[in-house]
Amino acid sequence: MIPDKVPKDDVFYGAAELQKGAHVPTFEKYKDMYMQSIQDPDKFWGDMAKDFFWKSQHTGRFLDYNFDVTKGEIFTKCMAGASTNICYNVLDRNVHDRKLGDKVAFHWEGNEPGDESMVTYRELLHAVCRFANVLKSQGVRKGDRVAIYLPMVVELVVAMLACARLGAVHSIVFAGFSAESLSDRIMDSGCSLLVTADGFYRGDKLINLKILADEALQKCRDKGFPLHRCIVLKHLSKEAHETSLSCPPAKRSCPDLQDKETSRVKKSRPVPQVPWNPEVDRCWHALVAAASDQCEPEWCESEDPLFILYTSGSTGKPKGVLHTLSGYMLYTAATFKLVFDHRPDDVYWCTADIGWITGHSYVTYGPLANGATSVLFEGLPTYPDVSRMWQMVDKYRVSKFYTAPTAIRLLMKYGNEPVQKYKRDSLKVLGTVGEPINPEAWHWYFSVVGDSRCPIVDTFWQTETGGHVLTPLPAATPMKPGSATFPFFGVVPAILNECGEELEGPSEGYLVFKQPWPGVMRTVYGNHGRFQSTYFKKFPGYYVTGDGCRRDKDGYYWITGRIDDMLNVSGHLLSTAEVESALVEHEAVAEAAVVGRPHPVKGESLYCFVTLGDGRTFNPTLEAQLRKQVREKIGAIATPDYIQDAPGLPKTRSGKIMRRVLRQIARGEKDLGDISTLADSSVVETLFINRCQPAL
Ligand code: WT7
Repeated sequence: MIPDKVPKDDVFYGAAELQKGAHVPTFEKYKDMYMQSIQDPDKFWGDMAKDFFWKSQHTGRFLDYNFDVTKGEIFTKCMAGASTNICYNVLDRNVHDRKLGDKVAFHWEGNEPGDESMVTYRELLHAVCRFANVLKSQGVRKGDRVAIYLPMVVELVVAMLACARLGAVHSIVFAGFSAESLSDRIMDSGCSLLVTADGFYRGDKLINLKILADEALQKCRDKGFPLHRCIVLKHLSKEAHETSLSCPPAKRSCPDLQDKETSRVKKSRPVPQVPWNPEVDRCWHALVAAASDQCEPEWCESEDPLFILYTSGSTGKPKGVLHTLSGYMLYTAATFKLVFDHRPDDVYWCTADIGWITGHSYVTYGPLANGATSVLFEGLPTYPDVSRMWQMVDKYRVSKFYTAPTAIRLLMKYGNEPVQKYKRDSLKVLGTVGEPINPEAWHWYFSVVGDSRCPIVDTFWQTETGGHVLTPLPAATPMKPGSATFPFFGVVPAILNECGEELEGPSEGYLVFKQPWPGVMRTVYGNHGRFQSTYFKKFPGYYVTGDGCRRDKDGYYWITGRIDDMLNVSGHLLSTAEVESALVEHEAVAEAAVVGRPHPVKGESLYCFVTLGDGRTFNPTLEAQLRKQVREKIGAIATPDYIQDAPGLPKTRSGKIMRRVLRQIARGEKDLGDISTLADSSVVETLFINRCQPAL
């Protein structure tokens, strides 16, 4: 399956010096290790597990599973029966056994240049212990779910690891999501406590997070799900709203987390008044100031839940992807180490928000498990100007840099000068994730950002896979621009045709996996049936990714995009059904259909067709209301780019909307192919004439 030889032409290599001392220095070595990982996964992962602390050893098989729905329940178990704690492994073990207490865990940089701090492994451990004690004092116990709704601050890492220390299950909701999305997630995972902040600035824009959190809690109450406790971090200002927050005039955060006395908020900007409900709200700073910095970890079983993270589902309702302890720990640690070829003196920067899986696996767990020094960035790539990222690469001497194709395409538009005015000689490996990277963006990233020295690891994976599943290894794998190349260790991909037959050699079809790796998701929280039907029903015996894939003559894998009703906007998955249901909730809308239209920066943009109810007319006010409605129901990333009045939608005689036709109309493709199955083909003409023009 892995080719014997890799091609000499049309491939790229990074600098040869990267091979010296690399964990996987050659393609030969990759192939050997890959074969071992498939032939004897227990030994392969067993060796990796030796790096970690186990309170007691596993009892059953190392990796046990059933991927075939016809043979019974789907399950994966890794190191069942073993007892450990992930927080202990990523902090205490580094501080005590590996003597990394004084090593910087995170260089934090805020939205405003100059607003910065750093935290060592020892300080992080103390801060986490304090907050774990706080959670305990608020009644949080092993197995309880805790919702976290915070911006990119060190305290977000502190809160998640504090949960892990207690064996509580964190459910992090991206701080760009709406109040409604937060309340849905709190209720679905049955959280007993919420951790949030007063607010934050994203570029010039103020996000009043506490107001959104309050709205979410009100929605929960209205639906008979009262939450009794909300812990509020004061992030925006150290002094301005002491009165409204009833906080002691403490310095920001825990005593262990110091930061420079710079202003978080520009003088000219407002700091919001924060609403305060004394029944429910508690001040983070007051609680941690009174808490001990010692806290025994709760020893948990390998298959105990670690976290729930929601991802869009094609039926509209987001799915709570559940990951468990030991397998996720092993897998994120191993992928981080090998895919970024981690070395002790690296400075690593992943620009993803912790609210997404990339941040869970490759800002928090993977890097910390390896004792890495990372940059944690609150701001935007374009604020205060478009060279912010490169200025930070220079400032922190970043050696491994991981971002999304959408960010690369965005910055590419501004040319080479903003990049080249900063030093990037520290860079060694560049990574991308979230969507296919187009060759043009790849070449710019490779030649301009990386000065043609640094390999690009195009990592394909999903919230569900926990970590990278198809990816180059930087010193070993010859790269082809736009291809995620080959499987990671322990991963067995296959390409199936519509009948479910495995295709050999060069081919294109459904990307599936034939067996689990330690970090694969275990279930959809509270709905194992949905888990089985979403991922295992279509092709019994396989995990179905939902992505299309092509394998070329050299065995390289190329992701061709989603083949279900999902859209990928700036590397974030959205389901068309979710956006459609937000639209039809507006009283004027009778029916809606949403499709993707290619976008030069975002990958895809949302193109919505709406059919209005009788007597309603389409006008700019209604259009603005609909945009707002979707933003409020889901979040800013789901804001429609185009909304078109559709007096009729193209339907088959059985009433099914022909999305293919809508996609073609949105793209302006004149040749619609065979539309003979449409009940009324005249609607197509009207839609075509009135289609929205691309924004200038
Ligand atoms: C979907 C998963 C994994 C973290 C970010 C997104 C697409 C992801 C790549 C890549 C082509 C990619 C797929 C996948 N995707 N990485 N390197 N090349 N496509 O996580 O929200 O769970 O989305 O993102 O379509 O299924 P997610």
